[in-house]
Amino acid sequence: MEIKKVYLQNFRNYENESANFKSGLNILEGKNAQGKTNLLEAIFLCVIGKSPRTKKEKDLIKMDKNLARVTVEFTKLSGNKKIELFLFSNQNKSIKINGVPIKKIGELMGELNAIYFSPNDIKLVKESPDERRRFMDIDLCQFNKTYFYTLNKYNKILEQRNKLLKSGNLANIKDTIAIWNEQLSEHACYIIQKRLELIEQLKVEAMAQHNYLTDNAEKMEISYTGFKIDNKAELKAQLISAYEQSLEKDLNLGFTTVGPHRDDFKIVVNGIDVRSFGSQGQQRTCALSLKLAELEIFKQNLNEYPVLLLDDVLSELDVNRRTKLLSVINNYQTIITCTEYESDIKGNVLKVNNGRISY
Ligand SMILES: Nc1ncnc2c1ncn2[C@@H]1O[C@H](COP(=O)(O)OP(=O)(O)OP(=O)(O)O)[C@@H](O)[C@H]1O
Ligand SMILES: [Mg+2]
Repeated sequence: MEIKKVYLQNFRNYENESANFKSGLNILEGKNAQGKTNLLEAIFLCVIGKSPRTKKEKDLIKMDKNLARVTVEFTKLSGNKKIELFLFSNQNKSIKINGVPIKKIGELMGELNAIYFSPNDIKLVKESPDERRRFMDIDLCQFNKTYFYTLNKYNKILEQRNKLLKSGNLANIKDTIAIWNEQLSEHACYIIQKRLELIEQLKVEAMAQHNYLTDNAEKMEISYTGFKIDNKAELKAQLISAYEQSLEKDLNLGFTTVGPHRDDFKIVVNGIDVRSFGSQGQQRTCALSLKLAELEIFKQNLNEYPVLLLDDVLSELDVNRRTKLLSVINNYQTIITCTEYESDIKGNVLKVNNGRISY
């Protein structure tokens, strides 16, 4: 998959600008606060319909303007495509694919595939399980629209179950809870099975990337910490039983304490849990290995590489890892930001200066 052109209108510090990209390495070069991250953010917005750095969509619209528009033209195995995303100050965003408005955000999933990596992604290794679930979910939603819809349904039912837990006592909610348990476990089975498949791929690919980056000096292992049952009937029975068993506790706390919304995966390097005991460098290398593994998993599942978006990553790596990263990213289209042009990076240079792009 390759991005050919991006148009930005009233997006962040851009007023009316376009950027042309080539195969291989594209370098966004510019001083601080010129619009490099803003451009990567605009592209990723067209991948999953959400910004990687803010939940406040209004912040994406240029100050004092009411409408922003991002257009991404790209090619993939199935042909040329165009995604247009409109942001309004007074209404919800709207999206068109090849000129046709979509009705649900799910229709966007899997159209433009990209992986975004910034120094902030160390959170993936260091912080709470939410980050790792989000990582799995973003991938799975791009592979499979059914996963996106199932996850949404699961979350809606979960919300209703939690409302019920907060409102009632055991005697008067028992029958309704049984219905929610049945529906929750049905959707949970699908989510868990897809995550388990992903983890199996991740175990192999992340370890391989980690071996490459560390010259086999350290061994990275990944394991899913949730339900690990492949058989659907067995998994569903176990889930229903877990929901039933936790009911009293859930009633006391006012939320559902078991299920895939609590799952996680553990990352171990040389036998040590990196989240709690890893050094900053080890955590960073694990996060990068996970992201590079994602690229390979996308290729295996979709037959083509996604686009790699790297924000401020080079400055964080030592010379050896930096050289290694630069040599692997030649295999796919990469858009990388740099504050000054560094001679060991060869590619299509786009100079970013105060919301303007030149070549
Ligand atoms: N809604 C907005 N309207 C106008 N300008 C904005 C808006 N949101 C952000 N900006 C401005 O965009 C500028 C560029 O931001 P960006 O994060 O892309 O910089 P950058 O080139 O990646 O810099 P750095 O090298 O520091 O990461 C900032 O000066 C910021 O104030
Ligand atoms: Mg930046």
